[in-house]
Amino acid sequence: MTPNKIIIAIDGYSSSGKSTMAKRLASKIGYRYIDTGAMYRAITLFALERNLINNQGSVDEATLQQLLPTAKVDFQVQPDGSQHTLLNGIDVEAEIRKLYVSNQVSTIAAIPFVRHALVALQQAMGTEKGIVMDGRDIGTTVFPNAELKIFVTASAQTRAQRRFNEMIEKGQNPTFEEILANVTHRDHIDETRAESPLRRADDALLLDNSHMTIEEQDAWLMDQYNKIIESKSMIS
Ligand code: DC
Repeated sequence: MTPNKIIIAIDGYSSSGKSTMAKRLASKIGYRYIDTGAMYRAITLFALERNLINNQGSVDEATLQQLLPTAKVDFQVQPDGSQHTLLNGIDVEAEIRKLYVSNQVSTIAAIPFVRHALVALQQAMGTEKGIVMDGRDIGTTVFPNAELKIFVTASAQTRAQRRFNEMIEKGQNPTFEEILANVTHRDHIDETRAESPLRRADDALLLDNSHMTIEEQDAWLMDQYNKIIESKSMIS
């Protein structure tokens, strides 16, 4: 393990911009970036492809539990440096971002056996440190001892607008109202589920970026990272 490498846990609400800041920091400091939301999305797609979620959103958990060991989730670095999510070797990056997957992902992410399997995989990815991982429970459950923990938030309206703009850019045509409904519905499920609900770890730094530019966020995050690295070098 490289002595000064740390684990950076970035948690927060959906569409709070945490992936953008996590990715940009990882690329600047040469760390590996892991998007755990993409892992829950890939398992949701896996369940949808096998018709394990019905029209009312209820899940055939027994079959999903039986089939889960056959779902292999990986990331593949692209020539431009971005990462794509693979499900059993197939690039599902575009598919997992679609609204029909977003609409079911919180339900799948609330299932304890799904969380246990993905948390174990995420912990294995962090054994060498040098990672920036974003999600909902990274600072609380996956890496409670992470050296730097950030909890990102922004108003639901701001977050829905960001996701809406992103989807329009990708050529999809949702209405703003359906995106806002999806964002608030997911907040509710994520915050109220029994198994590691979304909450700020006591030692996480809070960042409300409703009125911040990406550059301001980057500078703030880099500052927090530098402070931790400096304090570690003083100790070692
Ligand atoms: O970050 P995202 O919107 O891609 O996440 C998709 C869903 O996965 C979100 O509704 C909450 C869930 N999730 C989770 O429960 N735990 C994580 N560590 C990451 C995501």
